[in-house]
Amino acid sequence: MGGVCLLVFNTCFLFLLSTVSFAIDSISPSESIRDGSTLVSSDGSFELGFFSPGNPKNRYLGIWYKNIPVTTVVWVANRCNPINDSSGELMINSTGNLVLLGQNKSVVWWASAGKNVQSAMVQLLDSGNLVLIDVTDGNSSGSYMWQSFDYPCDTLLPDMKMGWDFRTGLKRGFSAWKNSEDPCPGEFTYGIEMVELHAYPEAYIRKGGVKYYRTGPWNGLRFSGSPELRPSPLYSVEFVYNDDEMYYMYNVQCKCVTTITVLNGTTSTRDRLTWIEAEKTWRAYSSVPIDFCDQYGLCGANANCITGESPPCQCLKGFKPNSPEKWNLTDWSLGCVRNKPLSCQESDKAGFFKFTNLKLPDTTHSWVNKSMNIKECRTKCLNNCSCMAYTSSDIREGGSGCAIWFGDLLDIRKFPDAGQDLYIRMSASELDEDDGKVKIGLIVGVVIAVVFSGMLVGYYVYRRRTKLKVSETDIREGNEKNEGAQEEDLELPLFNISTIASATDNFSDYMKLGEGGFGPVYRGTLADGQEFAVKRLSRSSGQGFNEFMNEIIMIAKLQHRNLVKILGCCVQGEEKMVIYEYMPNRSLDSFIFDHTMGELLLDWPKRFHIICGIARGLLYLHQDSRLRIIHRDLKASNVLLDDEMNPKISDFGLARMLTGGDQTEGNTKRVVGTYGYMAPEYAADGIFSVKSDVFSFGILVLELLSGRRNKGFYHPDHNHNLIGNAWSLWNEGRPLELINTLLESSCNPSEVLRCIQVSLLCVQHHPDDRPSMASVVIMLGSEIALSQPKQPGFFIEKEHGAGPDIGNESSTNEMSISLMEAR
Ligand SMILES: *[C@@H]1O[C@H](CO)[C@@H](O)[C@H](O)[C@H]1NC(C)=O
Ligand SMILES: *[C@@H]1O[C@H](CO)[C@@H](O)[C@H](O)[C@H]1NC(C)=O
Ligand SMILES: *[C@@H]1O[C@H](CO)[C@@H](O)[C@H](O)[C@H]1NC(C)=O
Ligand SMILES: *[C@@H]1O[C@H](CO)[C@@H](O)[C@H](O)[C@H]1NC(C)=O
Ligand SMILES: *[C@@H]1O[C@H](CO)[C@@H](O)[C@H](O)[C@H]1NC(C)=O
Ligand SMILES: *[C@@H]1O[C@H](CO)[C@@H](O)[C@H](O)[C@H]1NC(C)=O
Ligand SMILES: *[C@@H]1O[C@H](CO)[C@@H](O)[C@H](O)[C@H]1NC(C)=O
Ligand SMILES: *[C@@H]1O[C@H](CO)[C@@H](O)[C@H](O)[C@H]1NC(C)=O
Repeated sequence: MGGVCLLVFNTCFLFLLSTVSFAIDSISPSESIRDGSTLVSSDGSFELGFFSPGNPKNRYLGIWYKNIPVTTVVWVANRCNPINDSSGELMINSTGNLVLLGQNKSVVWWASAGKNVQSAMVQLLDSGNLVLIDVTDGNSSGSYMWQSFDYPCDTLLPDMKMGWDFRTGLKRGFSAWKNSEDPCPGEFTYGIEMVELHAYPEAYIRKGGVKYYRTGPWNGLRFSGSPELRPSPLYSVEFVYNDDEMYYMYNVQCKCVTTITVLNGTTSTRDRLTWIEAEKTWRAYSSVPIDFCDQYGLCGANANCITGESPPCQCLKGFKPNSPEKWNLTDWSLGCVRNKPLSCQESDKAGFFKFTNLKLPDTTHSWVNKSMNIKECRTKCLNNCSCMAYTSSDIREGGSGCAIWFGDLLDIRKFPDAGQDLYIRMSASELDEDDGKVKIGLIVGVVIAVVFSGMLVGYYVYRRRTKLKVSETDIREGNEKNEGAQEEDLELPLFNISTIASATDNFSDYMKLGEGGFGPVYRGTLADGQEFAVKRLSRSSGQGFNEFMNEIIMIAKLQHRNLVKILGCCVQGEEKMVIYEYMPNRSLDSFIFDHTMGELLLDWPKRFHIICGIARGLLYLHQDSRLRIIHRDLKASNVLLDDEMNPKISDFGLARMLTGGDQTEGNTKRVVGTYGYMAPEYAADGIFSVKSDVFSFGILVLELLSGRRNKGFYHPDHNHNLIGNAWSLWNEGRPLELINTLLESSCNPSEVLRCIQVSLLCVQHHPDDRPSMASVVIMLGSEIALSQPKQPGFFIEKEHGAGPDIGNESSTNEMSISLMEAR
């Protein structure tokens, strides 16, 4: 009797064991994984097992994400060798090798342990790496006998190295699937290439063996030709290049982001994908090639590809088309040749042209020395007749030191706001010619500057002596940039139009950051590398001049770290321009309304930091500055972000200064501003005050919390706008539902609640009920009890969702120019 009981118990136990065994993450030599069972990494993120991508008869052993409902296979063992039935079995054989057996126990695929071991173990790690461990040495060596990360397929996972191990000779490269049903390597491949040890390594995508896309060399932060992969707080990249190994790797700082880089042979792209849980899809965060100019060598030798120019291919300065006829017919393949051949004899007199913001040329015929500085680098290039160009990036900042190129320069492109400097060798006569142009430019510039300074002095205050900057880009290397500097009595530095023109490549389209009501905004780089943004008043618009002058006077007098800084201006004949500091992270709207960007870069602590920064900037305008200023056009696109995501309020074109210390209110016949942000009393009666700015601030905070625009907000159940939605959730006691789901993981609920309540107080209908910015700053920064908000202004959308009806004159979106709007 006891025997039977025991038997029954045992069977149950065995049954239990076999069910539980689904969750194991490793196998030892006596065990195996058969088709139907799987290994699951200990944290449950990855699973290894058999699958069929197309024909169900073809069985492959692979690894995929366990928790992602869209099957995403990241690695395949028997890529070209499917098992045609369910006989597949993965095991460790008696010599310690990992073998995949198919029909009749034939070996379909295997991974070598590299040595004969008594006892091995195979484990699926949380990173998605399948590793073979020597158990006899107790894993003391810490290295694996074999790992799937060394034999990548089409997917680069976080913590996976792409590159070379010089000690073992292992090269880790990627290859796309032939098609979505066949994991066998197709013709689309990706990997780091290097001709010899002293070359500049960079990654190439090849198609059928032919170069198709190039990342550009590593510049210390990223591959210089792939500016779209910006580092972010959530995600870091590493590039190691020493005597032992050379690799690229990226890591994600927290489990909250699932991101992979995949080669897609169907679309011929390399995609960085991020899993968006709320939408249950992979979103492409960036894909290369991005555009026309990303196609390898499109413009031929010694030419520059510039997106947005027509034609995109242009010979480098000092070069001309090899075949003008073909070049005219948009066949650029023959490239460009020098106007004047380089002669070695005059090498002592020869110099270099500096080209900025380039994707550096193909490094196949290059040479690097990490310890040379820029002077040594220049000398090195000058002393070798076949040297064509050099560049130097500081090794202490993660750069690669000195690099020099021989022979034709291939696959160069120009970026609007990325890339590196390249010094291209020119014959002495070529440089002389250019010198002439610079001199004329300087004379014209100085004459005009003197005329204009008289004008400006008549206009505005002048207190201290500042330098009037007249700098030129493209000046011959070695000349000091203070060549054209002189002293002037001006509060604002005055820029020469030729400086601005050359710094913006003659106001090229590709340097354009945005277009506003009274003209376009461009990005530029001065000879000393300083970047700026310049707003150019269109010649055609007679209107706008007042706003322009208004802005200059306003910002010149204001200084606060949450306000954008003005660097100078330029007025010359018909041309009027304001020059600001450049904000690399553009404007707030590009983050909060783009969920991928927002999720990756703006977690709750950052958003809170931004809210507090805007509040302080506004408080300064309203109260703490020498003037009392009402901005009148506060909105997400007028808040710019610096490289550390500090907010800076910009665009003072519509701002009003109130005279008299206690005036807090003004009136205007001309209502200007932006729909969705205007306070009711301003939109309806033209009454503006510090409280109408407070209203706009409240809207901005609601948008930051919800990730949605007030204007054009749509809810399936009611016709409330964003304010209305916030108000009703507040009254129903579930205010937290307002916040963007992407923020849920990072947010601090009490801070969020406080922000919601403050924003509702700011958007109250009656201006007198709204708090001042001084109170807002206090409310945000402390735990004091807050009053209950009253009914907000404008919470029902009108029939067409057009917001308040305030007449034609006030549809002045065109008056509010967004400095950093993406093209
Ligand atoms: C599976 O492939 C083997 C050869 O590898 C072949 O002999 C066998 O007939 C195939 N079986 C099926 C069901 O197609
Ligand atoms: C284990 O598998 C490897 C690879 O297939 C093979 O070379 C080796 O002979 C096998 N060992 C034994 C004992 O079968
Ligand atoms: C499988 O093994 C059986 C028996 O040893 C043999 O008759 C058959 O030909 C083998 N099949 C293959 C595909 O090797
Ligand atoms: C083996 O060692 C490596 C490196 O120290 C460690 O990451 C890994 O978790 C170890 N594996 C086991 C099974 O102990
Ligand atoms: C490649 O892209 C196409 C189109 O976007 C998509 O359907 C396919 O699943 C992708 N393939 C891979 C391997 O990601
Ligand atoms: C190429 O086109 C330009 C302008 O369209 C013209 O001035 C030039 O003569 C052409 N050159 C040749 C060689 O056709
Ligand atoms: C690199 O430059 C340093 C400093 O100029 C020099 O000492 C070194 O020999 C150079 N290395 C090579 C490989 O040329
Ligand atoms: C110039 O550089 C090339 C390539 O590295 C080299 O082969 C050649 O010897 C150098 N010439 C001189 C004069 O240093």
